[in-house]
Amino acid sequence: MKKESAPRKNILEIRNLTLSLNGKRIINGLSADIWRGHVHAVVGPNGAGKSTLAGILMGLSGYRDFEGEIFFKNKLLKNLDIHERASLGMTLAWQEPARYEGLKVRDFVTCSLVAPSRRSAVKALRIVGLDPEEYLLRSVDKTLSGGERKKIELASIYTMKPKLAILDEPDSGIDVESLRRIFDVVRMLKAKGTTVIMITHSPEVLKHADHAFLLCDGKIVDKGSVSKISRYFKNKCIPCSHKNKPD
Ligand SMILES: Nc1ncnc2c1ncn2[C@@H]1O[C@H](COP(=O)(O)OP(=O)(O)OP(=O)(O)O)[C@@H](O)[C@H]1O
Ligand SMILES: [Mg+2]
Repeated sequence: MKKESAPRKNILEIRNLTLSLNGKRIINGLSADIWRGHVHAVVGPNGAGKSTLAGILMGLSGYRDFEGEIFFKNKLLKNLDIHERASLGMTLAWQEPARYEGLKVRDFVTCSLVAPSRRSAVKALRIVGLDPEEYLLRSVDKTLSGGERKKIELASIYTMKPKLAILDEPDSGIDVESLRRIFDVVRMLKAKGTTVIMITHSPEVLKHADHAFLLCDGKIVDKGSVSKISRYFKNKCIPCSHKNKPD
């Protein structure tokens, strides 16, 4: 007898999203279904609108004046601010990780916990490959390298165990050896029930997704299996002929 697979449930539904910034159309009628419990990749060339999409989804200031609808767990997000979205279980790791002057790494990576502990901070730092003895008491400021801040941000997401984690270029500034750990964390998040969206233009990152979207010129131009979307890298952006395509 043929085994029937369980129906896919959407955690996030994006419907006909459009956003202009300074008179320029950046996101242009974008629709997508994000299946719960999957690791999705959003790939596309520089300037395609990937980080803008992340900003809209999280409700960042400057990205709130969009047309269309976004539903997270069937709840319309339009009027919710970033803190309300975070409390629903959404989080974003920035392409350029933020700095928080004066905030200790130990406190940053456990700030989502009701009962923060040194033990949780140590565990999270070890998982991303940072030595707790060296980093726990440092500040999340410019004294940390970009790659270190990226790992610390991921450690905080690991501790948070959000419902949806949007990782904007999780590999940028990360050395090859450390990249393996980043993918381990993505796997661990998925195993704990987190839905992950990885924004990338790296074939290496794409390989670690279950499903992918090709975004160009503010639109989804293709979607499907990782092997299908991988052809984008091999075929130099076909089926999209937008001017942003890579050389
Ligand atoms: N405030 C703004 N005003 C005008 N244009 C903007 C503004 N913010 C972003 N853009 C433009 O929107 C486009 C999409 O930017 P976005 O940062 O979303 O691209 P991206 O796909 O994340 O690219 P990358 O791969 O380089 O990170 C770019 O052409 C960018 O210059
Ligand atoms: Mg970007």
